[in-house]
Amino acid sequence: MSQLEKVKELMELRAKARLGGGQKRIDSQHDKGKYTARERIAILLDEGSFEEFDMFVEHRSTNFGMDKQKFLGDGVVTGCGTIDGRLVYIFAQDFTVIGGSLSETMALKICKVMDMAMKVGAPVIGINDSGGARIQEGVNALAGYAEIFQRNILASGVIPQISGIFGPCAGGAVYSPALTDFTLMTEGTSYMFLTGPKVVKTVTGEDVTQEELGGASVHTTKSGVAHFSVANEDDGLALIRHLYSFLPQNNMEEAPRKECTDPIARMEDSLNEIIPDNPNKPYDMFEVIGAVVDNGEFLEVHGNYAKNIIIGFARMNGQSVGVVANQPKYLAGVLDINASRKAARFVRFCDAFNIPLVTLVDVPGFLPGTGQEYGGVITHGAKLLYAYGEATVPKVTVTLRKSYGGSHIVMSCKQLRGDINYAWPTAEIAVMGADGAAEVLYAKEIKEAENPAEALAAKKAEYNKLFCNPFNAARYGYIDDVIEPRNTRFRVIRALEQLRTKKQVNPAKKHDNLPL
Ligand code: HXC
Repeated sequence: MSQLEKVKELMELRAKARLGGGQKRIDSQHDKGKYTARERIAILLDEGSFEEFDMFVEHRSTNFGMDKQKFLGDGVVTGCGTIDGRLVYIFAQDFTVIGGSLSETMALKICKVMDMAMKVGAPVIGINDSGGARIQEGVNALAGYAEIFQRNILASGVIPQISGIFGPCAGGAVYSPALTDFTLMTEGTSYMFLTGPKVVKTVTGEDVTQEELGGASVHTTKSGVAHFSVANEDDGLALIRHLYSFLPQNNMEEAPRKECTDPIARMEDSLNEIIPDNPNKPYDMFEVIGAVVDNGEFLEVHGNYAKNIIIGFARMNGQSVGVVANQPKYLAGVLDINASRKAARFVRFCDAFNIPLVTLVDVPGFLPGTGQEYGGVITHGAKLLYAYGEATVPKVTVTLRKSYGGSHIVMSCKQLRGDINYAWPTAEIAVMGADGAAEVLYAKEIKEAENPAEALAAKKAEYNKLFCNPFNAARYGYIDDVIEPRNTRFRVIRALEQLRTKKQVNPAKKHDNLPL
């Protein structure tokens, strides 16, 4: 063959590889409202930036006539590219090739990009669309999964890992996304479960559809397994790009700063009036977040799960921050099992990746009751406590209204190494609210009073004056300053600037023993 003929052959092989499982299967993928692996990569990455690896890899199985079913690239497209000019590694399973099922060689391809990502310190994005372990390959496929999981584990806290679930993700395959930092699912076309509806029916007798068992809505509202649910793949890929903009490349770097067009000292007069006079009346914490962060832009994470706590990314003077805020509009902002787990994982992510934490507090306490106690709220609440206590990133806390008892401590208080703790004049920092306190302290006195209602009101007023304000805590230095609400943006930004060079190191240990 001449050189030109060899080049032509290369081009033909490339074209063949790009067709994956063939046009018929590509059409069938499109008919399901799904993109192919290559189309997903093209949309996700900057135009022309994709560098593909292992295009000519084929599986090695000969079982069940597999030697006659070979496809260049073998069920996954892997490589690297850029998002807004920043390097990422990517793998996208190709459902058109044997259902995207995981073979030994496919696992090797995925492991190769993960190893490269670790070597150069860049995030990994995985797009899942697969029938699971390639049945014909038996234990080799299982071994392949284990190799991937092991890399997910070692990469955790070193490079950000994002999973997009754009099709089936069943059986043990679900554990790779579960080990990554953020999971996103498409509505109607993706599902995740350990055992499918048929097995469920056999074992438990339950009749359940794929969607009911493991669709996007289930995992973003009920189980909390996934962080984002999107209407379609275009939205999902755009969301991954957006999310990526808040993250650093690895745990040794900081997230990229964006030029800030929003005045730093912007006063937000509405915040001086946002807290209702009646302490039992809610307000919307999103309004506070929007008023404080750059241009009101907030990327909420886990938005449909445990809505009593809000978590997400924003920027303050161009710097990426993680926001954690109680939501008084939902269950009065109470902390419960799900809220604690949700926020704890987020706090740990931010801490691992040098993203400062801004915590907005309005929390009446932990949700009481047997449901919570039997579910282990003690252990789960301890996760959030632990997460804040171990975090060494800059931590700025603003208490807006209620901050009672254990929940006061958990929500990044001064003694959990909160760096700068502000309070609004409306803050109530105490062991408990006036109602409970008056009942406990003066039950006998109130009962014996001539007018018990009047006596109760008087005792409550006395307690409120003494304890339910920010000044009692400020008197002890537990609150660094009581600030005017409308000036919150400026004060938080100035605090973050002050903390830019913060260095804090935890004691050396093999690893911690977070209460799981
Ligand atoms: C081999 C597979 C496959 C698999 C799909 N295919 N899954 N081949 N191993 N796991 C093949 C199909 O035979 C078919 O080949 C092609 O992929 C497309 O699949 P269809 O069934 O035609 O597609 P669809 O109707 O969309 O159904 C998708 C599906 C279904 C729901 C995912 O294929 C399915 O149920 N697959 C098996 C799922 C499963 O049980 N996997 C093992 C899970 S256990 P042709 O040639 O006809 O196009 C597991 C253990 C992991 O993964 C443990 C890790 C620790």
